[in-house]
Amino acid sequence: MRFSLSLLFVILSVLLAGVLACKDPYNPETVDYGQCASATKANYEVRSDSKVLTPADLPADELAVHESRMRHIIDIARVNNKKFVSSIYFPNGTLACIGINTGKPNMIAHGEIVAIQNCTEIHGISMYTNYSIYTTGEPCSMCASAILWSRFKTVVWSTYNSDLYCKICMSNIPIDSSYIFSRAYGLGIEAPVAIGGVVKAEGDAWFGTYCNRPTSIYYIAPKCACQDPAKVSPLKFTQTRTTVWVEGGDKVVTQWNAIISNPSNSTIVDPPIVISPSVVFKGAPWGISAASEPNTYKLSYNKVLFPGQTFSFGYSVYGLEEVAFTALEA
Ligand SMILES: *[C@@H]1O[C@H](CO)[C@@H](O)[C@H](O)[C@H]1NC(C)=O
Ligand SMILES: *[C@@H]1O[C@H](CO)[C@@H](O)[C@H](O)[C@H]1NC(C)=O
Ligand SMILES: *[C@@H]1O[C@H](CO)[C@@H](O)[C@H](O)[C@H]1NC(C)=O
Ligand SMILES: *[C@@H]1O[C@H](CO)[C@@H](O)[C@H](O)[C@H]1NC(C)=O
Repeated sequence: MRFSLSLLFVILSVLLAGVLACKDPYNPETVDYGQCASATKANYEVRSDSKVLTPADLPADELAVHESRMRHIIDIARVNNKKFVSSIYFPNGTLACIGINTGKPNMIAHGEIVAIQNCTEIHGISMYTNYSIYTTGEPCSMCASAILWSRFKTVVWSTYNSDLYCKICMSNIPIDSSYIFSRAYGLGIEAPVAIGGVVKAEGDAWFGTYCNRPTSIYYIAPKCACQDPAKVSPLKFTQTRTTVWVEGGDKVVTQWNAIISNPSNSTIVDPPIVISPSVVFKGAPWGISAASEPNTYKLSYNKVLFPGQTFSFGYSVYGLEEVAFTALEA
């Protein structure tokens, strides 16, 4: 009995040692971990942008609260003569603290970052679950990420990033905050409720314009496709990813087939097709050709689309996501 127990112990030890042993030497090319084998090329789940609510989506009483909080920070912005001011509210609706982007001590001291640090310092808050954050200008990609990491429940802004960059020539990283918020799944959390354009006219007026001030440190000549919503044609785009490959070990390229269809009753001739946000194609697209205006393409042939008719084109692009096309009225 004593012998068989010892033997069992020895056998178990050997088995366990086999299971727990380090693979030595450790080779990241062969060791598997997580859900992708180490030698595979990993890609994130493709997500479309999460929804941004506008004042029109909100009940009047809730909108009134957001408007008054937004006016409060726009007032602080005017008094301090700074563009970007942020405020944070406790879950019970009491103002917790504010943050002003003064450009000091460095370039990442944006209003939201300053407010988060400020509230943490004053109130010792480390997680902002159920808190709300307000900002005169839509969170940049850095601040949107900080808002996700901090677990805010609601984020409200007045002026959109796309307007700051495209309409008033203010330098900015051209990423909508919703692009970051839609990746909340990576932290295992829900995206915050995002509300844009609250007292937009006042916010936009406060930002003013830099387009006529090319010597300002904020000035940029923006690269944007400008669309007049009144001039968008009824043409529809249906896209299918046909091929995915990896170049140079780490650059994912996808090939897409796109079909333009004319669901309307009228014949559409030679529509300009704009791309927003702009992208760099891998090689030239086929079936459409670059026009003289930036981010604009035209059909290469068969330029007349009768009612019900379709037109196919294709392209390759870096990344996994399709390019966003809109056809304008000819
Ligand atoms: C809201 O919560 C904060 C933090 O707990 C507290 O300081 C404040 O007094 C509360 N406000 C109200 C109106 O209860
Ligand atoms: C921190 O918030 C308080 C309360 O709103 C405010 O008085 C103060 O100016 C803020 N500090 C900074 C550095 O923004
Ligand atoms: C946040 O609010 C929800 C809903 O009221 C509540 O269930 C949850 O406990 C709150 N979380 C924290 C950390 O206060
Ligand atoms: C096309 O015309 C028919 C008949 O005039 C009309 O009933 C229909 O609503 C129109 N469809 C579109 C998409 O304009």
